[in-house]
Amino acid sequence: MPAIWSPSLSHGAQQITSSAIRDLLEITQQPGTISFAGGLPAPECFPTEELTAATERALVETPLAALQYGPTEGFRPLREFLVRHMARLDINVPLEQLLITSGSQQALDLLGKLFIDDGAPIAVEETTYLGALQAWRPYQPRFLTLPLDEDGLDVNALARMLEGGAKPRFLYLVSCFQNPTGVTLAPARREALVALASRHGLAIVEDDPYGELSYDGPRTAPLAALDIAMHGELRHVVYLSTFSKLLAPGLRVGWVAAPAEVVGKLVQAKQGMDLHTGSLAQATAYYASCDGLLDRHTPHILAIYRARRDAMLAALERHMPPGVRWTKPGGGMFIWLTLPEQLNAAQLLRAALERQVAFVPGESFFPNGGGHNTMRLNFSHAAPAQIQEGIARLASAIREMIGKT
Ligand SMILES: Cc1ncc(COP(=O)(O)O)c(C=O)c1O
Repeated sequence: MPAIWSPSLSHGAQQITSSAIRDLLEITQQPGTISFAGGLPAPECFPTEELTAATERALVETPLAALQYGPTEGFRPLREFLVRHMARLDINVPLEQLLITSGSQQALDLLGKLFIDDGAPIAVEETTYLGALQAWRPYQPRFLTLPLDEDGLDVNALARMLEGGAKPRFLYLVSCFQNPTGVTLAPARREALVALASRHGLAIVEDDPYGELSYDGPRTAPLAALDIAMHGELRHVVYLSTFSKLLAPGLRVGWVAAPAEVVGKLVQAKQGMDLHTGSLAQATAYYASCDGLLDRHTPHILAIYRARRDAMLAALERHMPPGVRWTKPGGGMFIWLTLPEQLNAAQLLRAALERQVAFVPGESFFPNGGGHNTMRLNFSHAAPAQIQEGIARLASAIREMIGKT
């Protein structure tokens, strides 16, 4: 059959590829497979009863707001709630600077649409969230990569890049418990980064879906809060967050706090994308949150995820052969593993799937290639007993591969 549509794909669309994680999700849903692949919350943690009650309230108390077309900026009571919620993190913004999005993923796409032209430089951590790369590739940026260590982004490397004349349209970073490595930008580096942004007029996209999932103490102050403390208003930072990791990703409700000069453009771009985020989901998120569900539910999931993180770290310690290294995150959902140089994580995945255990090979998180011997493990989805079993299976696959090299 002659192709009718595909010869007409735009240059941008030709850059679109399927996400390695979404492809894996299908395999990992087979019974018996232990999955460390997706960034999935534990399904048994979903506050189903509270969300049922909240949906009912939305339909009974505000049926028009829940079912009718709504404002692009979002359901006003939810925005007002989020203004108060963010103030607790010292992110004090007026209501006009807060926009509801269909997950943070949509915010990433909106930012790509607004700020990336063909060949435009974008500064990113190496490694970074692959969903951001997937959102932006159609806009064909040039990724300027910056190294990461256990204290997060190497801000000195960024300083050298900027002093060398690079003018990225923005810097993108996942500032807490990063996806994929689990590392967090250290407080001193945060201060240095905001000061650097101020000196160079740098725009920063701070993606913060995991900050509240802090297992070893209070969370680190967001860059957005430091930006406001330094400038009296949100000036350099566009701040993204979401209900996905705390309540349920199926709601598809996230939010953006943006400098006054950007928020209008974000709203206009969103108008063309989906008019507004689903009204019923927004109203449900609001009625669930307004009577303190986040405060009650967060400690509950923290306890569960902390135990799973500890179970995975203990199992890695116990089973992994010498030469394998991993991060020890203080929160979030991910551990990053580095295999001996001669091993290839994509090949290892085939052997692991035969043993019914899955993970994401690290290559997809490298914007410009590399990382053949790295991989991401999620610890929030599987129960501790499964985590122990899965890591034992994975370690045996790694041993076998080492034996063959
Ligand atoms: C760093 C990061 N940003 C954004 C997202 C997308 O989240 P949402 O479900 O709010 O679209 C994710 C999801 O895993 C993520 O890890």
